[in-house]
Amino acid sequence: MSINVHIKGLGHHVPEKILSNQDLEKIVDTSDEWITSRTGISNRHIVEDETCVDLAYEASLKALKKAGLEADDLTHIIVATFTGDRPLPSASCLLMERLGIKQKAAMDIAAACSGFVYGLETARAFIALHPESKILVVGSEILTSRVNWKDRSTCVLFGDGAGAAVLTGDDGAEHDGKLLDVVISADGALSMALAIKGGGSALPYHLGDNVGEEYFIEMRGREVFKHAVRNMASISKEVLARHGYTTDDVDVLVPHQANQRIIEAVGKKLSIPVEKVFSNVSRFGNTSAASIPIALSEAKEIGAIKEGDLVLVTTFGGGLTWGSALLQF
Ligand code: ACO
Repeated sequence: MSINVHIKGLGHHVPEKILSNQDLEKIVDTSDEWITSRTGISNRHIVEDETCVDLAYEASLKALKKAGLEADDLTHIIVATFTGDRPLPSASCLLMERLGIKQKAAMDIAAACSGFVYGLETARAFIALHPESKILVVGSEILTSRVNWKDRSTCVLFGDGAGAAVLTGDDGAEHDGKLLDVVISADGALSMALAIKGGGSALPYHLGDNVGEEYFIEMRGREVFKHAVRNMASISKEVLARHGYTTDDVDVLVPHQANQRIIEAVGKKLSIPVEKVFSNVSRFGNTSAASIPIALSEAKEIGAIKEGDLVLVTTFGGGLTWGSALLQF
């Protein structure tokens, strides 16, 4: 089914404070050399007192401005996050309140790092049902709130940030680009490869409990790495093939910004030359659901994505979940 989905505007926002590899050397037994050679990350932005919704709000304002729309024009608000301000209510309801609007549909998506791409597919479905929809899709994360600062194998990887996109059906007005297609997938059998075990109904908090390591991110890094590369490459080929494209047709590849080695391995597996692969992981680290919208927004802003470009997005995260989107600018 062909659905006309326009990308009206993109925006991103990261907190001001930077945590460098040198800063991390003072917190855990690590080194700038280890972190840069294994991950390509040098810095990450981290919050001081802002919340997930604070970052989402700033990114949303920028996306709305680029879209030439007011918040009240929106019909749906979708926030992808696993680090919302509170377990209840949803980040999307809090964002709606912050935007000063009422009586819109609002929902959060729990697909970890793949959440923004899952959000794009959800927006496509809403637009297919209601072509007049104007949908805000946001990825916003405060990863530093769920990182175990005593675990050097994970705490060096993550950063905080938010990115947003405004999507509409074909309303005849100007737009940045088109969302041609999305494919999403998951495998729950691998759920414990990347997990926060505590804090849900399987391992709830009890009044007076000490907060142990099980309430923070745990990851089997090598396993995640292997599945990330394999699945991002295969789902990318799938979304391209649905439109008769090959990887040769791709002008820019925007992969989930998890780790420079994963980014390069995906590019290599898809035979997409390195100069077509967008990366900002060295400055932001892995911002989970915010990584793709931050990368898209920044790439557009600095001219790495130009008018006419066919852009392939691919993502991977806890769940395990993964997905790809095809955009025509
Ligand atoms: N500093 C110094 N040494 C470290 C650090 C650190 N920060 N972290 C781990 N090490 C040590 C380990 O203890 C181990 O030491 P040992 O050999 O004495 O036991 C050694 O380095 C090698 O550890 P590995 O985990 O095997 O290192 P690897 O090369 O696999 O790199 C990494 C680890 C970077 C985590 C890698 O596995 C990876 O990138 N995996 C994918 C992770 C990822 O990006 N996940 C996110 C995707 S999904 C999402 O975005 C939520």
